[in-house]
Amino acid sequence: MKTVRAPATSANLGSGFDVFGLALETPADVIRVERAAETSITVTGVGSSYIPEDPAGNTVGAVAKALEAPAHIRIDKGVRPSSGLGSSAASAAGAAVALDALYDLGHTREELVSVAAEGEALVSGEAHADNVAPALLGGFTIVTDAGVTQIDASISLVACLPETVVSTRDARDVIPETAPLEQLTETVGNAATLAVGMERDDPDLVGQGMDDPVVTPARAALIDGYHDVRTAALEAGATGVTVSGAGPALLAVCRSGRRRDVAGAMIEAFADAGVESRAYQTRIGDGAVLYDE
Ligand code: HSE
Repeated sequence: MKTVRAPATSANLGSGFDVFGLALETPADVIRVERAAETSITVTGVGSSYIPEDPAGNTVGAVAKALEAPAHIRIDKGVRPSSGLGSSAASAAGAAVALDALYDLGHTREELVSVAAEGEALVSGEAHADNVAPALLGGFTIVTDAGVTQIDASISLVACLPETVVSTRDARDVIPETAPLEQLTETVGNAATLAVGMERDDPDLVGQGMDDPVVTPARAALIDGYHDVRTAALEAGATGVTVSGAGPALLAVCRSGRRRDVAGAMIEAFADAGVESRAYQTRIGDGAVLYDE
């Protein structure tokens, strides 16, 4: 048997739509695999009743098929589905690492990124690697057609998750198909600023670089309370706030020592909008970890 803890992730970070991602220290999924003649899946934990156990409809089933590694796979969900915190990516990345170890396949983490992204395609209709890359490699990741660039950044974060659901498919439908050149210029400047901020572990540069004039405003409309929660977080000491992945979670970048205030302000602002929420006071963390058993 092999056991893997695979972290939640936050994709996009505003200016890096479909490109940037980071691993969160918490929450995480735990995946256990045992060799079997055919793949079977059981799911427990947060939101497990919404996740199909049929291997043909589960991201993890797609990973087992791609690796030709049939197994009984137990998924204990810590990352809620449809949260914007890379729930399916955590399971897909965890299963990829666990099955690779179970069958001694010897794939690199970079090779497993494309395998796990195939699992993601089942959920969103397209193979995005911006969640599975940080779930596998940890830190901050930049995914392009040329491959993945990874930086071991250390930045304090709050991920605030409202008790509402936004599907990735719906959140992609609202994105404008084109953007004016000045918005492109602004986005490139912000994305570059954010990447340099990650390299320097500078929460001010990272927060400043999260602004995005194109995708985030369209998606914010799907999240009740977004503008008030963002304002409350910034007033409480966050350096930047944006939609986490496809939402509805919001990600706040914090200076050291400000997470508790930011988390409290975000929960209170969501409550004022009539929405219950919970906040993870966390930081950029490691990728999936394999435990010896
Ligand atoms: N970049 C993707 C999106 C993340 O925002 O739609 C979900 O795979």
